[in-house]
Amino acid sequence: MDLERDLITRRSALARGFGGVFLVCSFDFDKRTRPAGARTSAYARASQSAPFQPFQRDVPIPVVARPVARSRALDQYVLTMRPGTADILPGFKTPVLGYDGLYPGPTIKATRGRAVDVRQINQSGRSLNVHLHGGVTRPEFDGHPHDAIPHGTERLYKYPNVQRQATLWYHDHAHGETAQTLFAGLAAFYLVDDPADAELELPQGSYDVPLMIQDRSFNADGSFRFRVDLDRGFRGDTILVNGAVAPRMKVERRKYRLRFLNAANARAFTLALGNNRAMTQIGSEGGLLTKPVRRGTIPLEPAERADVVIDFRAFGAGSKVILHNVGGEATTQAIMRFDVVRGGSEEARVPKVLAEEEPLPVVNARRGWPLTFQGLGTSMWQIANGAFDEMRIDCRPRQGSTELWTWTNNSQRTHPMHLHGYHFRVVTMNGKPPHPGDAGWKDTVAVYPNQTVVVRPYFDYFPGRYVFHCHAAEHGDMSMMGQMEVVA
Ligand code: C2O
Ligand code: CU
Repeated sequence: MDLERDLITRRSALARGFGGVFLVCSFDFDKRTRPAGARTSAYARASQSAPFQPFQRDVPIPVVARPVARSRALDQYVLTMRPGTADILPGFKTPVLGYDGLYPGPTIKATRGRAVDVRQINQSGRSLNVHLHGGVTRPEFDGHPHDAIPHGTERLYKYPNVQRQATLWYHDHAHGETAQTLFAGLAAFYLVDDPADAELELPQGSYDVPLMIQDRSFNADGSFRFRVDLDRGFRGDTILVNGAVAPRMKVERRKYRLRFLNAANARAFTLALGNNRAMTQIGSEGGLLTKPVRRGTIPLEPAERADVVIDFRAFGAGSKVILHNVGGEATTQAIMRFDVVRGGSEEARVPKVLAEEEPLPVVNARRGWPLTFQGLGTSMWQIANGAFDEMRIDCRPRQGSTELWTWTNNSQRTHPMHLHGYHFRVVTMNGKPPHPGDAGWKDTVAVYPNQTVVVRPYFDYFPGRYVFHCHAAEHGDMSMMGQMEVVA
């Protein structure tokens, strides 16, 4: 329905060159974008760095959504997608689009075995939809890119929460527009807990903290500054965690579970603790790893998650431990800082076995998906059969089966490839077994330039039509996306 406008805005963006900004709607990037660098965060940094100085603010924790009704097996929520403002830079109000006008949006806490209904009301001024990323949902509730909620209307999404405990998130998925809407603030956590895992005694409550990492740039008036880059995707000069510039977090001398989410449009982060202390990864997108994995660095491509336990007893009270982004440019090298304080009785542990190895049904089919760059145009990024076409089904896996999918990256950019509706195991990354941190259940995997990744999706739950795509938001928009129809 928005196709025509889509094409028009894309064409005019292309006509104006990639430095231009396209968008005609209520969240007005156009007005806020100025030709030279004179009114930008880069300029502001040079003249007055205080608002961008890292470690000035305590990390905000996104509010937890409150159900409007609860019954024996169901929690019901109502959220409104609408404009709002966020306090990011001191003295400024930053306009955002958010769930309930909040950036980041409210965290939904779900429990395995209890369903969640979310009534999403669209008061944003544009057509949107909602995708529960990593969620096992029926296709009609998955937020297919062409299944939009027009402004002024609403949609009920039903989430059964039949899956393993995991760190999920929800965001907009309107086709061709996700780079803008994700950037504008439509992103939030959705955490699935499993009561059966309580015996693991992992850190809980205020010691279990979701951390959403993104990059942004700002105009001189404090508004977000978007920049179209259909090749590399948006890359900002400022790192935000839960909507605060490289914040600090007070931690006691004990274990914390930190749920890292890369919710950037297109920037990869490589997490590393100061002093090169190891972190213990316990989970990836689809749930807990079978065994904890010690890692010095954790690479996270857009949409990837890593559940990590850090034991701050390794540091003395008063220590300030920076979480670095290895390989970031000058102003994107620090993600946040942990300020270790006295106290902290230890009531958590990391057991040697976190989850059972699940047997998989035999491989039923093999498929290859070359990932290619087709030159500048309205569909410059493609998977095997061409640009995304909602009328085309690219494959029909059988429900209950596994398959071997080979992603072959024939381009110079990394593609974080994501499957809706199901999870997969990584079989090989460029011919080698994956790092143990990538060997658990995943829904997004990094396919680096000129490399090949083989994954084994398990089409275990609901049959129907779902998309798979590159999660560099600009690539998915432009149109690196395919469709599968899982048949019963
Ligand atoms: Cu997080 Cu299809 O997306
Ligand atoms: Cu891509």
